[in-house]
Amino acid sequence: MIEDNKPANFTRRLSQNASTINSILDGLLGNESLAGEIIRPPRLMAAIRHGVLNGGKRIRPFLLIETATLFDATGKGVLQAACALECLHCYSLIHDDLPSMDDDDLRRGQPTVHKAFDEAMAVLAGDALLTFAFDLMSDPVVSDDANIRASLVQQLARAAGHGGMIGGQVLDIAAETNSLDEEQILQLQSMKTGALIRFACEAGATIAGASKEDKQSLNRFGEIIGQAFQLADDLLDVTSNSKTMGKATGKDEAKGKKTLIDYYGIEGSRSRLRELLDEANAMLSPFGAKADILRQTARFIIERKH
Ligand code: IPE
Ligand code: IPE
Ligand code: MG
Ligand code: MG
Ligand code: MG
Repeated sequence: MIEDNKPANFTRRLSQNASTINSILDGLLGNESLAGEIIRPPRLMAAIRHGVLNGGKRIRPFLLIETATLFDATGKGVLQAACALECLHCYSLIHDDLPSMDDDDLRRGQPTVHKAFDEAMAVLAGDALLTFAFDLMSDPVVSDDANIRASLVQQLARAAGHGGMIGGQVLDIAAETNSLDEEQILQLQSMKTGALIRFACEAGATIAGASKEDKQSLNRFGEIIGQAFQLADDLLDVTSNSKTMGKATGKDEAKGKKTLIDYYGIEGSRSRLRELLDEANAMLSPFGAKADILRQTARFIIERKH
């Protein structure tokens, strides 16, 4: 628990968590091979490291760790599960930036992986990270309970695959040519972005062996903040700039892609974000003051500047 609810303490906790995640990922993504691997080609590892160890808010690992902490689960296993999720997220960004997808040159303030290396290496670095995410998640260090590990692996697969994030990316590409209504945009966003954020919250509860009811509350909390996260991303795409964001902005409009900002307007989007914050907080009421960090995380998501 943090001593009080000051934003500065929250920011410190988020950045301390990011440093911890960065140093674990740094160790996991070295050139030395693990049992069962043959060799790790250095150029591939360099591309992977470029796509992972390049900043990033590490908000998904933070959510997983803080949700687990809510149920008193901490330690190496929780951190490894959090790193698995971040590897999967980084893969999604590397592929999202490819010329055949969003065709972006800048990510986290640096050249995208296909710019710094080449397209084939970016595809393969993403493939390797997706695979490695499941290696990390299935490792006995994550939990002594094999049922919990199997459940985490399956939940992650479902959040990330054709009925989740990847399905959402497909709908997102289609949105460049078909004009979607609000319901359709909400659905695509719940898949492309919401699914992994929801997974983060659900996984924290799963790893801690939380009750079914508590898992459901966290699942719903994750859905709501996932929606808020993408609404904030779309809003920042319109209102921010690439220097602050570390990635190109104004892309949705340039691609003729309708987002919720077209339906709500800028002020309307800000007030929808505040409503979502209230809805998210309502899901945390059973947990009292112990969930303050998650409340602050939800606030951070709606108020974020990058
Ligand atoms: C960017 O995610 C992609 C979206 C789903 C909007 P983040 O905003 O979490 O990106 P990083 O990891 O901090 O760079
Ligand atoms: C990315 O959405 C979603 C995934 C990577 C799954 P965006 O395309 O809006 O993300 P940014 O704006 O490039 O970070
Ligand atoms: Mg995209
Ligand atoms: Mg993109
Ligand atoms: Mg975006």
